[in-house]
Formats: sequence, C-alpha cells, structure tokens
Amino acid sequence: MEKGVTNLNRFLLEEQRKYPEATGGFTILIESIAFASKIISREVNKAGIVNIIGKAQSTNVHGEDQQKLDIYANNRMITALDHLGKLCAMASEENNEPILIPDEYPKGKYLIAFDPLDGSSNIDVNISIGTIFGIYKRQDGKEGNACCTEFFQPGRNMVAAGYIIYGSSTMLVYTSGNGVHGFTLDPSIGEYILSHPFMKFPDSGKIYSINEVNYNRWDEATRKFVDYLKGHEEREYTSRYIGSLVADFHRNLLKGGVFAYPGDTRNPRGKLRLLYECAPLAFIAEQAGGMAVNDEINILDIVPTDLHQKEPFYIGSKYEVETYLKAKRGEL
Ligand code: AHG
Ligand code: MN
Ligand code: MN
Ligand code: MN
Repeated sequence: MEKGVTNLNRFLLEEQRKYPEATGGFTILIESIAFASKIISREVNKAGIVNIIGKAQSTNVHGEDQQKLDIYANNRMITALDHLGKLCAMASEENNEPILIPDEYPKGKYLIAFDPLDGSSNIDVNISIGTIFGIYKRQDGKEGNACCTEFFQPGRNMVAAGYIIYGSSTMLVYTSGNGVHGFTLDPSIGEYILSHPFMKFPDSGKIYSINEVNYNRWDEATRKFVDYLKGHEEREYTSRYIGSLVADFHRNLLKGGVFAYPGDTRNPRGKLRLLYECAPLAFIAEQAGGMAVNDEINILDIVPTDLHQKEPFYIGSKYEVETYLKAKRGEL
C-alpha cells in the first residue's frame, strides 16, 4: 500500500511504536506544541493587520521591552500545555519563575523550557522569527509541581528539543534523539507535513553569523576566529546575520556554517539564554552532526544554576566550531 503523505501525527505515532513502554504522553506534548505554533503562525502572518505588533507596556526579567507577540506567544504555549497532565512545570523566557501547573490539572513527568518568540526585534519589520523548546523528564520519585531546581539538568538529559520558524513557510523542526526532522505547515489543511527527514549539518559551511558591532569588545580568541574566517582564501566565507537566532540557526543547518554570540567586555556571558535558547539548539545540532560550545565546554554538558543564565554560544558545522576551539587554545 503506498505510504502517502506523512503528517506530524503519523510520524510521532511511528516513533512512539519504537518504544514499547511509551504511553503516548510525549506524542501529545509535541502535538500540543504544534497546535500552539499554528495559532502563533496565524497571528504572526497577519501581524500588520491586527493590532498585535509593537511593544507591550512591560519588560521581562532580562530588562527587554516585551513585544505584544512575545506575550501572546507565551500565553498560547502555556494554555496549550498546562492542562495535558504531562508536565510538572514550564520555564519561559518571559516568566521570572517557573510556571506551575494549575491545581485543577494533573501533573506529569515532563518539564518544558521555551522561548515563546525568538527574534522579537524583527516582528515589526516582517523578518522570520521563531519559537524554541526543550523537554526534560523530571527526576524519579518526584511528585506534584516541580520546583526551579528540577530544571537544573545538563542539556544532554533532554528527551526532545525543537523549534518552529515563522518564515516564508512555517516549519517545525524537532528531535527526540533519533535524528532531526523538519515538517512544513500546509495552512490550507492546518497540518505539518514531513518535508525534511533526517536533517544534517554539512561538516563545514561557508556562512558565519555574528553581530560584528561587538568586535572590539570580544576576547582575542573570538577576534582571531572571525579574522580567520574573513581572511580564508579557499573557503570564501560569507557573512549572514538576521538577528533572529532561530532563522540564523535554521539557514546554517540547511546550508552549513556557524552562528556565534560571544561574551564581550560589556556582557561577559553574552546575550543568549542556556535553558531555552542554547541547550535546545545544541541538542538539535548534535543530533544533526554539528556541535555547540560556550567559551570552554560543550553546551550540553553545562549544568544550569539559574533559569535565565546566559552563555557565550558558538554553534553549527563541526569544522567551524572546532576552528573556534583551536583559536581558544591559541592554535590558530
Ligand atoms: P529574543 O527575541 O527571544 O529575546 O532573542 C533575541 C536574540 C536572538 O534571537 C538573536 O540571535 C539575538 O537576540 C540578536 O541579538 P543582537 O541584536 O544583539 O545581535
Ligand atoms: Mn526577548
Ligand atoms: Mn530568543
Ligand atoms: Mn524570546
């Protein structure tokens, strides 16, 4: 019988069948994230028409002006997930503390950390933005609502990670440890269709993504690394920087290359948050044959001590990330 189109639901069920002990909880979780993303995609795609662009009159824990869509996307993610009985807590860029599951709903064994809307500065100028998520299992034996510290696990513990990019098309990309798979939303039927099975980082790429305005504030290793890329005769690197981490990462995943948000003298630990930006993308990168480090170790080996801690971030094709590490060791 011809297999036909694989939508997200079919793919998740086929994945679930590989685990006899699976209860389907994980499948419901990913499906619900997909549901929230379809609503966010609808609002993003008509942002210019309805009054949902621009700043909300509030700031988040990072002192960032919250955009109306930051708050809208955050609410969509929370309300799509809080009643499933699969989670014991959520952590969001837009909430100082973990979001607890309301008393009237059962608690589950998963924890989720998400950036509900990544690339907020690009909303009003109609450039691709995204949602990033990472899913962990709570430690055994714990019951009821989770506390902050249950999120303090190395990224290597993640059971799944993914992102949605709201671009020329809306795509959901996720991994549960068996490869990275991309699904494109067909808005005419409201379904995510498998379009990019087993996505792989090219071993090396020609693209580097970094905000060079910070050049004079970087450490010597980062300056040497970027000078090496810019001066490389054979490899002919080119610079592409969108200012939306999800969009920069997604392009590099497809075409090869490296994204970096280094620490600098003004922001020693950089700008990007470990729990819901760096670690989920590092999990995806590693599953796709790439890698991600901070200024010393693999992102997935860092044990967080704060929900919103920042890390210098270098992620992408192995050759380029290892070139940064060589610069860091003074070997470049
Ligand atoms: P967010 O919109 O979730 O706060 O994240 C914005 C981040 C990330 O998307 C992007 O890579 C980075 O900010 C761009 O920062 P600069 O404008 O400092 O380059
Ligand atoms: Mn933000
Ligand atoms: Mn972000
Ligand atoms: Mn954000």
